[in-house]
Amino acid sequence: MNKNFLFENYKDDFRVGAALAGFIYDDDFSLPWKKTPDGKDLPDFKNLPDKEIASKHFNLIVAENDTKMEHVYRGLNDFNFDRADKLVKFGKKNGQDIRWHTLVWHSQSPDWIFDADCKAQPRPKWDPNKPFVPPTPEEIAAKCTVSKEELERRLQNYIFTVGDRYKNDICSVDVVNECISDKNFKLRTIEDYSRWSLILGDDYIEKAFFWAKDAFPKSNLVINDYNLEMIKGKREGMRDLLEVLLRKGVPVDTVGLQMHIDIKNPPVAEIAETIEMFGKMGLRVIVTEMEVSMYTSREEARRDFTAAELEEQAERYRSIFECFRQEARRGILQDVVLWGVTDRFSWKNNFPVPNRPDAPLLFDTEGKEKPAFIRLSSF
Ligand code: XIL
Repeated sequence: MNKNFLFENYKDDFRVGAALAGFIYDDDFSLPWKKTPDGKDLPDFKNLPDKEIASKHFNLIVAENDTKMEHVYRGLNDFNFDRADKLVKFGKKNGQDIRWHTLVWHSQSPDWIFDADCKAQPRPKWDPNKPFVPPTPEEIAAKCTVSKEELERRLQNYIFTVGDRYKNDICSVDVVNECISDKNFKLRTIEDYSRWSLILGDDYIEKAFFWAKDAFPKSNLVINDYNLEMIKGKREGMRDLLEVLLRKGVPVDTVGLQMHIDIKNPPVAEIAETIEMFGKMGLRVIVTEMEVSMYTSREEARRDFTAAELEEQAERYRSIFECFRQEARRGILQDVVLWGVTDRFSWKNNFPVPNRPDAPLLFDTEGKEKPAFIRLSSF
């Protein structure tokens, strides 16, 4: 059935969402620099096709960056809700539901929060002529001077202040993001840069969920992570954690599968197996950050993609959405969110390899519908 808007094609089964960059919903958007890092002119952000695509094809939205803690929690009693308000306004105007990403995460947390005196800790200036050497876990730990009690107060204050403002607008909240370690599939520690776990201990996860339950009484509470569908050990690690949390009565009700996957991996059967494993535990599943990269490894050099490759991507999206339909009809899968709108602004153009253009989404760099979009709109 060919409908006008993408989400309509899935309306009876799950919501179709997109992560939006600030320029899409902030009419005053501007950047503090005049050129792109490779010396090109910046786009005219007001006249990009992304805005219209975002407003009509999706019935669920989330901020790609602006609701992360470092953007919102600027100091002890200093909250910046400017962009979050604009996101909510955009969603309401377009009749879209809204997610909150994210409350507790080892990344994109503000540095001041881990400092006893709330001092921002300026990062070493990046020198493009020198290779970037990330700080070691020991160096990071040495700067964590706040006490457990005080950090708990700060986190609790954050969760309740955000909830106070948005609890009626947010359908689901990523309460804890990426807490499983890739090394041993147990909880991430300071070895994998979690200052939360270093200072608060492992039970920061349950505390965050209990606070989130009070702060967002109407929202689904999500534990979100990547590679759960890709790596069996990682999803089993998540399952083990969830078994403990559920036994203790922790109010987590949804697993978020980020699903940053690629054109070949993982097999659809493994995606289905992952969704059903969490479904059997009585949990809901949301696909929170999906895209389908054209590259299957870091080693692949940048290239232009052929029509046949874009066809293959379309077929891959189709077969996965078919699986999503089944899992939605089983009552497990609730939403599918794509991590971006057009290929031009996908984070995959710089991750995991900087400056390697990818084409992982449904609209090309000009905002034109790709074969994947056409396929998903008509099956
Ligand atoms: C990414 C954004 O897309 C980038 O713009 C930003 O520079 C870094 O974060 N997992 C997550 C998302 O939970 O928040 C990340 O988003 C992608 C990986």
